[in-house]
Amino acid sequence: MTQSDEHPQSPRSGDARGTAVADPSDSPKQALRDYHQITRLSESQEDEDRIAEQPKLVSRFYDAVTRFYEFGWGTTFHFSPRRPGESLVESQRRHDEGIGETLRLKPGMEVADLGCGVGGPMISIARATGASITGINFSPLQIERGQRLVAKAGLEDTCRFLYANFMDVPLEDGAFDAIYSFEAVCHAPNNLLLFRELYRLLRPGGEIAIVDWCFTDRFDPDDARHARIRSEIETNNAVPDLLTTTQQVETAQKAGFEIIEAIDQQAEFGDPRAPWYMALQGRDFSFTSWARTPMGRGFTAAVTRLLEFVRIAPSGTSETARFLNVAADALVEGGELEIFTPSFLIHARKPESTEAS
Ligand SMILES: C[S@@+](CC[C@H](N)C(=O)[O-])C[C@H]1O[C@@H](n2cnc3c(N)ncnc32)[C@H](O)[C@@H]1O
Repeated sequence: MTQSDEHPQSPRSGDARGTAVADPSDSPKQALRDYHQITRLSESQEDEDRIAEQPKLVSRFYDAVTRFYEFGWGTTFHFSPRRPGESLVESQRRHDEGIGETLRLKPGMEVADLGCGVGGPMISIARATGASITGINFSPLQIERGQRLVAKAGLEDTCRFLYANFMDVPLEDGAFDAIYSFEAVCHAPNNLLLFRELYRLLRPGGEIAIVDWCFTDRFDPDDARHARIRSEIETNNAVPDLLTTTQQVETAQKAGFEIIEAIDQQAEFGDPRAPWYMALQGRDFSFTSWARTPMGRGFTAAVTRLLEFVRIAPSGTSETARFLNVAADALVEGGELEIFTPSFLIHARKPESTEAS
């Protein structure tokens, strides 16, 4: 797909800000009900169906969970390699800025943040590097929230949002000098097609840094406990078909990328005294981390039940809290067994000459 430089949503034009509008009457109950259609899709053998429908259902998942994520995680929705004594937010900022360094971002570069959430990583990276960043997201609710955060940070000149499905981004070939992503590619209905779309969006010689969820080579599909953890992680996080680290690398290569580095950042840079999942276990107890601890999660579930009963919280709030608790426990179990990593990095390049690919 080639689009002209005049495309109205080019990141170089001033019109790339998202125009998506969230529905204020929507409830978490309705959003979760829609999301559960994903089970029907994952049973479907028709890939075309999944490619068209899954992104919409994932967006409904984020309609249900975004307020919980903001409550527990703030503005950045990803894990990071931790250091003892460092807060979750400090580790996320260090991680975000590290990706900016990996891609050697600087003022004047056009960069995409794929699946940008409410914009926490984009704000950190734009501040640290001065690069011009387009956050691509299929969640109108998150874009609305992100636009407010970017305005509050005074970064409207360098940060903008584009409401789009990352499987088919309405921008011209070679629109970006670099693309990064934290924990979003795992939502793709087909990773090969997504890596091909990234390849198209990148200029020749441009680089990607994709940090994402994968099963490690320790994962054994024939082990019943591993299979149960896999199913709980996938269903309760809207990531229906996670790849192994090896499959992720092969997929990027098949799309035409030259791998510069492919590492499990947790195994490489994590500290066993401060594993990535400790925020979900309550091991870094503090006022701000409390909502993520088992006790905080239990408290939230009880309070939301009560608030829902007296009609202060919208219907489905407590169901969403329970759903996310299963997700959190499965992530901790997968982390402890080292069969799962949330931070598998693929740093890769689109060749300068793309004639052969
Ligand atoms: C776990 S969140 C991570 C958000 C952000 N990268 C961060 O670290 O704060 C995953 C993000 O991917 C986005 N996403 C999922 N599927 C998408 C799709 N098909 N197109 C665009 N964005 C998508 C979600 O809306 C959400 O913002």
